[in-house]
Amino acid sequence: MANRSGWDREGQRALVTGASSGIGAATAAQLAARGYQVHAVARRVDRLDELAAATGCVGHVLDVRDSAGLVALVEHIGPVDVLVNNAGLGRMDGTLAESTLEDVVSSIDTNVTAVMVATMAVLPAMIDRKRGHVVNVGSMAGLYPLAAASYGASKGAVHRLSTNLRLELRGTGVRVTEICPGRVSTEFYDVAITDPVQRSATKDSGVDEVTADDVADAIVYALGVPAHVNINRIELQPTEQTYGGSRFDKVNREG
Ligand SMILES: NC(=O)c1ccc[n+]([C@@H]2O[C@H](COP(=O)([O-])OP(=O)(O)OC[C@H]3O[C@@H](n4cnc5c(N)ncnc54)[C@H](OP(=O)(O)O)[C@@H]3O)[C@@H](O)[C@H]2O)c1
Repeated sequence: MANRSGWDREGQRALVTGASSGIGAATAAQLAARGYQVHAVARRVDRLDELAAATGCVGHVLDVRDSAGLVALVEHIGPVDVLVNNAGLGRMDGTLAESTLEDVVSSIDTNVTAVMVATMAVLPAMIDRKRGHVVNVGSMAGLYPLAAASYGASKGAVHRLSTNLRLELRGTGVRVTEICPGRVSTEFYDVAITDPVQRSATKDSGVDEVTADDVADAIVYALGVPAHVNINRIELQPTEQTYGGSRFDKVNREG
């Protein structure tokens, strides 16, 4: 893959979670092309093998909800220069009132707890070495109201984790960036929605969606600025998608 802005981090170690598809795979590929030694984490071994063959990334088959496994992996690979906390999912088969306990628990374990555990695991070495960069992939759903309460709660937690971590890390030289995408064309909705009709209706947004490589470009930008600059947060969404606004729905009290 072409080196798009002229810098590289030859030999530095990057750990990218959720690297078997979408944003994580695109980020892993772009970082490998810039000389990082990329450790790519996900559950699907076939996808990791493909990524490894195409980019030279080292694949690690791991469910990030396995906290002990995550900590052991960081110990195994050694000091990490860049952690991209990207593994995540939304379960959007209905409202919170219609959700299963399993969906809620797996969203929080994957989107929040694993992000915290991976970050805890890499930080001591970063603080010792007075450098390092934690990139958290959040969501516009963590910043603005969206009719996806459970997913929004998990990404809202990632947002506050990112801002407060930055405060805790003041004076250490370690940087923290939150990336907040809107609609990105990935496999996200294949996981989020079980019903094929509803899934294809949701996936067929009709707009020109942001691509995984567009988001990877934003991550690469945040990593590439000089060490004295911290990109706190990047929000990106399709030009044809907006956030906010008001909705009015009359209550039918006769039913
Ligand atoms: N697509 C969007 O519209 C959108 C918008 C805002 C934010 N995001 C966020 O962007 C991030 C990446 O999603 P994506 O859009 O690229 O979707 P995706 O193509 O479905 O990728 C999700 C990645 O997370 C991994 N993953 C999920 N659960 C995991 C687990 N328990 N252990 C290890 N890996 C796990 C998946 O790998 P395996 O299945 O192989 O484990 C996959 O590599 C997520 O945090 C998502 O919430 C996406």
